[in-house]
Amino acid sequence: MCGIVGYVGSKQAVDVVVDGLRRLEYRGYDSAGVAIVADGALAVRKKAGKLANLRDVLDHDPTPASGTGIGHTRWATHGGPTDANAHPHVSEDGKVAIIHNGIIENFAELRAELLAAGVHLTSETDTEVVAHLLAAALPAADGDLAEAMRRVCRRLAGAFTLVAAHADMPGVVVGARRNSPLVVGRGDGENFLASDVAAFIAHTRHAIELGQDQVVELRPDRITVTDFHGAPAQVHEYEVTWDAAAAEKGGYDTFMLKEIHEQPKAVADTLLGRIKHGRLTLDELQFSEEELRSVDKIIITACGTAFHAGLVAKYAIEHWTRVPCEVELASEFRYRDPILDRHTLVIAISQSGETMDTLMALRYAKEQGSRVLAICNTQGSTIPRESDAVLYTHAGPEVAVASTKAFLTQIVAVYVFALYFGQVRGNMYDEEIQHLIAQVADMPQKVDLVLDTVEPIRALARTYADAHSVLFIGRHVGYPVALEGALKLKEIAYMHAEGFAAGELKHGPIALLEEGLPVFVVVPPPAGRSVLHEKMVSNIQEVRARGAHTIVLAEEDDDSVLDYADHIIRIPACSTLLQPLVATVPLQVFACEMATLRGFDVDQPRNLAKSVTVE
Ligand code: AGP
Repeated sequence: MCGIVGYVGSKQAVDVVVDGLRRLEYRGYDSAGVAIVADGALAVRKKAGKLANLRDVLDHDPTPASGTGIGHTRWATHGGPTDANAHPHVSEDGKVAIIHNGIIENFAELRAELLAAGVHLTSETDTEVVAHLLAAALPAADGDLAEAMRRVCRRLAGAFTLVAAHADMPGVVVGARRNSPLVVGRGDGENFLASDVAAFIAHTRHAIELGQDQVVELRPDRITVTDFHGAPAQVHEYEVTWDAAAAEKGGYDTFMLKEIHEQPKAVADTLLGRIKHGRLTLDELQFSEEELRSVDKIIITACGTAFHAGLVAKYAIEHWTRVPCEVELASEFRYRDPILDRHTLVIAISQSGETMDTLMALRYAKEQGSRVLAICNTQGSTIPRESDAVLYTHAGPEVAVASTKAFLTQIVAVYVFALYFGQVRGNMYDEEIQHLIAQVADMPQKVDLVLDTVEPIRALARTYADAHSVLFIGRHVGYPVALEGALKLKEIAYMHAEGFAAGELKHGPIALLEEGLPVFVVVPPPAGRSVLHEKMVSNIQEVRARGAHTIVLAEEDDDSVLDYADHIIRIPACSTLLQPLVATVPLQVFACEMATLRGFDVDQPRNLAKSVTVE
């Protein structure tokens, strides 16, 4: 999820673009760059690291005066955060500059085609191939950059927002959109393009939302929008009512709420490019099939929410692959003298890739001769850098300290790995894998369904705003969901909350139950392990019988719980192992609403940091 800005008009483009990037920096800042069209050339300045690094470069090596330019802040998905991988990328003839947000699924084939044609590539990115393809398409497009963009977009698969400029076309910026956001700002004798209105609302509040598979050509006095085949396209024009701060949050009150609502796309993006013709292809996984077949034990190590994702993953890994899987808190792992060797695969899960406990655990594992796979959301961070292989989640930058979309994408990434692991080891039939992949591919829209019904959950937070404690119980994969729901409430609403394995209630925690105490109950799908479901229903009765209030999360058609539920939260039907992806969302929303009601800083809760880089 990168920051993108384009400008044509009479102001200094470099100033408009860099200020726009500053307003988008929260979207990710592995690197930043600009391309300015002036005197028949492209003035390109780009630098790894935060936007301030680019500003330093521009201070020492300013671009020529110009009213045409594009700029980009990068959240890396393909290729580490280096100067060479920073956007804009430029065609070999130096004439076409491109910036990109998203993932081009078929870039490997396109890259191979360009290499075979003798094109010299200078980066590891999927984006660069588009610069070369655009330059190659221009002659057939009679030098029309918008037509060249349409021709190239028809060849691309995946999710992308592209914005291009040409050295010989001052006053022209061209953009294209598929799945990733792109919005036009209509000015007076000037026009803007951006991934988010925050970039230009200081100049204009007239916005045009581009639709799927559309190309836009911006000139200072004209905006032309077509589909990918050149036909005029319908667009949605509107006035932006948000202020700049609200715009950075996409109109949500907090980054956490914005990131909760980004979860369907984060899950979809994490699957992008990894499923082809019903089979898993993990090109980026640096383990050979032989190495994977030599694994006889898996140990997952992580902290906090990432640890809970590991607990969920264990059930799937053992069920699908029959390889023993342990899950360890990273801060405990290396002090318990664990049994591991070169046949043990250690999976280190981390959103930030900088958590010191997890880093020290993986270093210990490597000292013991084990291979380490990182599941990480931050390209080029320390944990993937020190691991033997990495599978990136593509959740985009997670700004709020409380982890939400990272959790769902960590589960999806480990599930994808587990299915691939089973596929490679041959202990899962292709049709079984394809059936499971199809179910995983359905999850983004199921998460969307949950997000459409958050109002009753927010009302529940108001009902229990004065509770002194909240309990969460679940069984099987519902148990880590209960732990995650409790953690969310603790860390942002500063409430006592505790998650339990429901079967443990009668071994002690049931003494905590009292009149009016809210207890969330995560009920497994009735069609799944029916014994699991029956036990859960009897747990609800145990809780209810002691006067506690049962807040029951159950599948949409599961009426077996109605007699014992004080409140019911419906979640879409799905298989047992996939239920955490939909059951967690209401608990995130509940915690977010509770913290807001209590007047706390949802995004920056007290005592916490987004990345804990100390042991
Ligand atoms: C989760 O909401 C917390 N912010 C925290 O538990 C976090 O998950 C943990 O610190 C691990 O961080 P990481 O995923 O960046 O390694």
